[in-house]
Amino acid sequence: MTLTAPATPFAQPLPQVPSRGPDVAYASAPPAIVDAMLELARVTSDDIVYDLGCGDGRIVVAAAKDRGARGVGIDIDPERIEDATALARREGVTDRVTWVLGNLFQAAFADATVVMLYLQPEPNLRLRPRLLTELRPGTRVVSLSYDMGDWTPDEVRRVDGRRIYLWTIPPR
Ligand SMILES: C[S@@+](CC[C@H](N)C(=O)[O-])C[C@H]1O[C@@H](n2cnc3c(N)ncnc32)[C@H](O)[C@@H]1O
Repeated sequence: MTLTAPATPFAQPLPQVPSRGPDVAYASAPPAIVDAMLELARVTSDDIVYDLGCGDGRIVVAAAKDRGARGVGIDIDPERIEDATALARREGVTDRVTWVLGNLFQAAFADATVVMLYLQPEPNLRLRPRLLTELRPGTRVVSLSYDMGDWTPDEVRRVDGRRIYLWTIPPR
């Protein structure tokens, strides 16, 4: 297995050859929803925004372009990572973003200050223990459309008929 170091120092190395297909089919968050997700997490230039299952990278690119954040997008589908790479280039944010081709369930994300999710109920629940133990207290987690079971969100916003959930990692 080949380990490839990412271009920026804040992401951890990941296996670059995905071992299986996606857990969730690709669908992209509409622009107004992306804005609302960034707004709900109050993303600023101090943040490192991860999108676990980043699709074409639009959330990470918007975080970098509109809010000056740094970002990491992880996707298991090579076509999505190609799209994300092209989008970052078009939008002029290649110096602020890193793309990782790999399985989000094996990815390191402990340096995130914001984690974005647009997955499904089961993957959210599978991720939940790692989010709660590996992310630093105060890190914000935002999920489009799906909750985290009995982990009560701090806030739920409804935008264009979709629910967006916000949680904050509590003190240990
Ligand atoms: C519903 S799309 C969301 C795309 C993007 N976050 C957005 O909101 O526009 C889910 C994405 O997760 C990716 N994905 C699914 N299972 C994955 C896994 N185990 N590891 C990494 N990516 C995965 C899919 O390839 C797809 O691009």
